[in-house]
Amino acid sequence: MAEPLNIALAGLGTVGAGVIRLLDANAALVARRAGRPIRITAISARDRTKDRGVDISGYAWEDDMTAMAARPDVDVVVELVGGADGPALTLARNAILHGKSLVTANKAMIAHHGLELAEASEKARVALKFEAAVAGGIPVIKGLREGAAANRIERLYGILNGTCNFILSTMEDTGRDFADVLAEAQAKGYAEADPSFDVEGTDAAHKLAILSAIAFGTRTDFASVETAGITAITAADIAQADALGYVIRLIGIAEVDDHGGMPRLFQRVQPHLVPFDHPLAHVDGATNAVVAEGNFSGRLLFQGAGAGDGPTASAVVADLIDIARGDLGGEAGAPFSIQVAEMEEMAPAASGHRLGRAYIRFLVADRPGVLAEITAAMRDAGVSIESLIQKGRAEEGGTVMVAMVTHEGPEARVTEALRLLDGSDALAGRPLVMQLLGE
Ligand code: HSE
Repeated sequence: MAEPLNIALAGLGTVGAGVIRLLDANAALVARRAGRPIRITAISARDRTKDRGVDISGYAWEDDMTAMAARPDVDVVVELVGGADGPALTLARNAILHGKSLVTANKAMIAHHGLELAEASEKARVALKFEAAVAGGIPVIKGLREGAAANRIERLYGILNGTCNFILSTMEDTGRDFADVLAEAQAKGYAEADPSFDVEGTDAAHKLAILSAIAFGTRTDFASVETAGITAITAADIAQADALGYVIRLIGIAEVDDHGGMPRLFQRVQPHLVPFDHPLAHVDGATNAVVAEGNFSGRLLFQGAGAGDGPTASAVVADLIDIARGDLGGEAGAPFSIQVAEMEEMAPAASGHRLGRAYIRFLVADRPGVLAEITAAMRDAGVSIESLIQKGRAEEGGTVMVAMVTHEGPEARVTEALRLLDGSDALAGRPLVMQLLGE
């Protein structure tokens, strides 16, 4: 068998320990598939003494992880530190500079600096691979770059954050509250170091920006992803959606929008009402699912565990196997499927003209005239209401929930209706708007 592929592992959190376990458990199988053994030579993390449940005594320890980039006994640096900037980015830049290939699970870094790193890796003719950065164990990047490479992707959407999906589906199943279920997701190792990245939609937006670039050949544009999280969703919203025949899921959507004759990139992460009979309605727990609609392949559905040590380690090691086989990452080494110089700079699309049905939930004062005020704003903005319900009767001076579903219409009309209601003393807090996921 050929010489081993030597790797340095930076970061020994959930995923790092998972990579060590996987390479140990599946060593023979990985070597046969890769054509040579994959061997860890050096490791680095914040705390050398912490018990991670894996034996690290056989690897060289580096206190300064950046030093791993220069080690002659390292072919590939595996960056599992996280964070868009800071040590992870320094290490990534250095690794490429020293002619090492880079494998990373760092979606924030790739969403923000992926083009710079890809360009550097193309020049250095080393591989840059980040399958583990998107949707955990699901080979969706491989699926798009390789399996669906012959297609123009018309639309891409899916469930891209395991923590949010776990929280929403567990709230749905158990009636437990948000904070309690978030704590469980953190204990299971799904959540980001800063869980606000999960629940505010940022993590899903990072992943969507990466997938958009690969699917549409456009330069990554994280800043233009319209992002809303799940923190405002209550048990009452979930019950109301259920009564209407929907579940609530955080969905990322991207497509090229030709409205106005000029192609623009639409990217949004927002909780949606998903009809019971849609495949994404059955995606529960920390599972992720991505739908890509190819112009020749038709609808492709990628589904699997989107977070956790095993699935993410599986994606990291798959990238290492590709590198061991000699794959730089696409034709002439293009991490985003086409070379950075060929990627298109596409302006972000507005959303006002988009046609859709919306769920709008208000918390309102329970007094005469409030419904009339809300429906008048809808009328004045040209929003047609399909159904409307008020839940319960408030104690003296309390608030009640009013939820409505609109007929299909331009999103700008809903925005205008809410603008008309802005500042009304009938409303307690900001209304919650969620789109209904169409076909
Ligand atoms: N925090 C992420 C999630 C982990 O919940 O999906 C995987 O990227």
